[in-house]
Amino acid sequence: MKLDKYFKNIFSEVSQSKRFCPFQGSFLLIVILILISNVSCDKKTEYTIEEYFHKKGVQGFITVIPQLPPLELKGGQSIEVTAKNCGSCHVKIYHEWKQATHATALQDIQFQAELTKVTSPKWVCLNCHIPVQNQREILIQEKTKINIEDRNELNHIIKEKNPDFNPGMQKESITCATCHIRKDEQGKSYVIGAYDTEFAPHPVQKDREQLRNICFRCHSPGFEQLTDYFQCWFKTKEEMEENSAAAQKDCVDCHMPVEKRKATLVDERVPERDGHMHHWVGGGIPKWYSGYDHILERGFKTSLSINVKQPVVSSDKVKLSVLYENGDSGHLLPTGDPERHIQIRASIVGSDGKELSFEKIKIGQEWDWGDPSTGKPAEKIHDNRMKPNEKRNWELELKLPDSVRKNPSSAKIVIQAIHVRMRSQNAKYMMQAKGVNETYLPDGQNMVRNATEHYPFASFIYKEELELKSSKKKIYSMEELVELSKKEKGKSLEERLY
Ligand code: HEC
Ligand code: HEC
Ligand code: HEC
Ligand code: HEC
Ligand code: HEC
Repeated sequence: MKLDKYFKNIFSEVSQSKRFCPFQGSFLLIVILILISNVSCDKKTEYTIEEYFHKKGVQGFITVIPQLPPLELKGGQSIEVTAKNCGSCHVKIYHEWKQATHATALQDIQFQAELTKVTSPKWVCLNCHIPVQNQREILIQEKTKINIEDRNELNHIIKEKNPDFNPGMQKESITCATCHIRKDEQGKSYVIGAYDTEFAPHPVQKDREQLRNICFRCHSPGFEQLTDYFQCWFKTKEEMEENSAAAQKDCVDCHMPVEKRKATLVDERVPERDGHMHHWVGGGIPKWYSGYDHILERGFKTSLSINVKQPVVSSDKVKLSVLYENGDSGHLLPTGDPERHIQIRASIVGSDGKELSFEKIKIGQEWDWGDPSTGKPAEKIHDNRMKPNEKRNWELELKLPDSVRKNPSSAKIVIQAIHVRMRSQNAKYMMQAKGVNETYLPDGQNMVRNATEHYPFASFIYKEELELKSSKKKIYSMEELVELSKKEKGKSLEERLY
């Protein structure tokens, strides 16, 4: 998420509402203003952080999940609420979680690069990427008054050290406790569960609904426009609600599939139940190249399918018809980060493997991020993401270069689909970031600078090759596609297709 200029603009908006106060004239204007933006007209110059966000209808992620004390176990012992500790009993779940992107949401190279921007309100970013107070070295006093007259106040917001900061837990990013542990009225930690177990050594409160709805806190935070320049595009839940066919299922049904198993082997009495895989596989772009190693076992499957009709080849061109279909994606394809998109690309490739001509289409969003210096607000220019079960057809023509016309047996038609997290042009910019915080990501500065070595920017999700002359066809298997994606490691930005 890019919250650049966020504060600058939230401040200027509030001061504007003050300027138009009816007692100072401009009554009509203020009425219009109230009607349009719901901004109340008061003489306040100071707001608490919560007041600021609530003015904009934002809930949930504004505050951290309050400090969680050690979890008491039967027998008088107690444990810090780290994933590592949970993992000593819930071994399998721990190993699944460890490979998930949730477990490295803090160490994500792009995230770290974006945090270096002076304009990034880091604490807001961290509220979704490391949201438990135990994980935060520095806390913002929630009741801190923000003086809207002072534009530098942002620099004074972060106020106090957290005496109970747990550095090990910080590294765990979206850890077990994020979803599973809360503090009760007596100030004691308990586990949110979904069964009625009598075997757990720790206190459990059963609340399946809360557990399954926790996803929305970050993936559908429930607001659209915080300021003219900060729009929130994480609307996965809303996308689902608009697609009735998928409404039967929730996030957990698809992203945490059920497997009959025991939640732990430490207690023999624990029965096999419907356990939930803690993989959360999404669009199949891991955070590190090593993440490709188990991606298929972890359940990665794209919902995009492609069917290419027999091409019509004439003397100087090839006519193609590519039918592509989104299957059971629940939400739009792709969902989440607005930079993510799918490129479908058709090309003529020579015997040396080089592209001789190509055409491409993009499935995704296009944004203009606005410009506060001119007052131009951010706006979405284009959005052609696919609904669940939507079918489309792409008709295109590819020119045959002279060399191929003379010797067609040397050439192939290649149709491929690439799920892109980050385009090379944005990666170039990202790789120039300076001042990466190396306590968050050891050797982070180097990793950002050499992101092409460490950070997968895209994954191949479909590829087929047709020999021009014989029409012999090869469709790549998922295993082969994963190998192709791995081979992007170390390629220069110029060499990439996206
Ligand atoms: C000493 C071993 C042990 C530790 C440590 C432990 N658990 Fe458990 N946990 C269990 C046992 C045993 C059960 C019962 C499983 C069952 O009945 O299926 C359980 C049950 C659960 C359940 C399901 C409860 C329900 O009723 O649905 C959740 C969720 C859970 N643990 C989360 C955690 C988390 C999070 C941590 C770390 C903060 C943790 N556990 C630490 C042993 C442990
Ligand atoms: C505390 C915030 C938070 C909560 C709660 C949360 N997520 Fe996430 N989720 C994230 C972030 C941040 C990422 C991206 C991490 C990254 O890319 O480094 C993510 C990534 C994902 C992905 C993409 C994974 C990939 O590799 O492409 C899926 C799928 C997902 N979450 C599903 C869920 C589901 C289902 C739930 C609820 C059970 C949930 N999330 C709860 C913040 C959250
Ligand atoms: C992003 C949120 C999220 C995170 C992080 C998370 N869980 Fe879960 N967990 C869930 C959900 C959702 C369920 C399933 C609820 C249901 O039964 O409907 C679940 C279920 C469980 C259960 C009950 C058995 C089962 O498989 O259904 C245990 C035990 C458990 N989690 C332990 C852990 C441990 C240990 C960690 C950390 C290593 C962890 N969870 C991390 C959301 C999460
Ligand atoms: C009907 C099944 C289904 C449901 C329900 C569902 N998803 Fe997904 N989701 C998928 C599939 C399949 C993909 C992979 C699509 C692809 O890239 O081909 C995916 C991808 C994602 C991604 C990765 C996006 C990307 O571009 O890599 C995120 C994040 C995500 N889902 C979050 C959620 C959240 C949060 C919910 C609940 C609000 C949810 N999903 C509900 C099936 C589902
Ligand atoms: C409301 C919660 C929320 C806030 C606040 C938030 N993020 Fe995220 N972030 C997410 C979720 C959810 C995802 C996963 C989306 C997906 O996989 O498409 C994510 C993913 C990312 C990613 C990975 C994108 C990708 O395509 O893999 C980056 C980088 C990122 N966030 C940066 C930031 C920065 C920088 C900030 C602060 C300026 C920020 N985030 C604030 C929820 C949040």
